[in-house]
Amino acid sequence: MTYQARSFKLPALEGLSEKQIKVHLGLYEGYVKHVNLIMEKIRSLKEVDAEGNAYLINELRRRFAFEFDGMRMHEYYFEQFEDGATAMNQNSPLASATVEKYGEQGLIAHIKEVAGSRGIGWVVVYSDPKGGTLHTVFVNDHELGQLAGLPILLALDLWEHAYMVDYVPAEKKNYIDAFFANLNWSVVEKRFEAK
Ligand SMILES: [Fe+2]
Repeated sequence: MTYQARSFKLPALEGLSEKQIKVHLGLYEGYVKHVNLIMEKIRSLKEVDAEGNAYLINELRRRFAFEFDGMRMHEYYFEQFEDGATAMNQNSPLASATVEKYGEQGLIAHIKEVAGSRGIGWVVVYSDPKGGTLHTVFVNDHELGQLAGLPILLALDLWEHAYMVDYVPAEKKNYIDAFFANLNWSVVEKRFEAK
């Protein structure tokens, strides 16, 4: 099988230019291409000489999570903007879970706090059905440091490529504000309810 790059139904976004999104979608498509490329390379190297190419094959396998998670994380990211911004439904199961975990501070303020971590990466909000709670984590490299098996509710890309067409690094906070201005919370609520 091969993976296909998804197309996303994105409206005009507030604080994120068409050029910014186009550049970022291009990067996403590069991940999809390389997921397919790694699978294909491993297949063909094995066919030619599995033993002789073992070292090369193992190195490609090591790279797979970088490409795969890069692909999938960007799908989580872009689908959050589909169909335009909506506020969190305060009567939703997600709203109850966030109040239980983050109290008066609230989820958005907590995500912004975590997003203030130095360095590039992602803020990822996970649901832990076994623990009956949420976790908000700063994930530096998307192939490392993710919480095993937990459904992803929200993914905030904090790599500089996500905003540097529109903002300089010192304006990261403005990008984060733009992210929330465009976030369709119903997507996040559906992920929580599907967990
Ligand atoms: Fe990105």
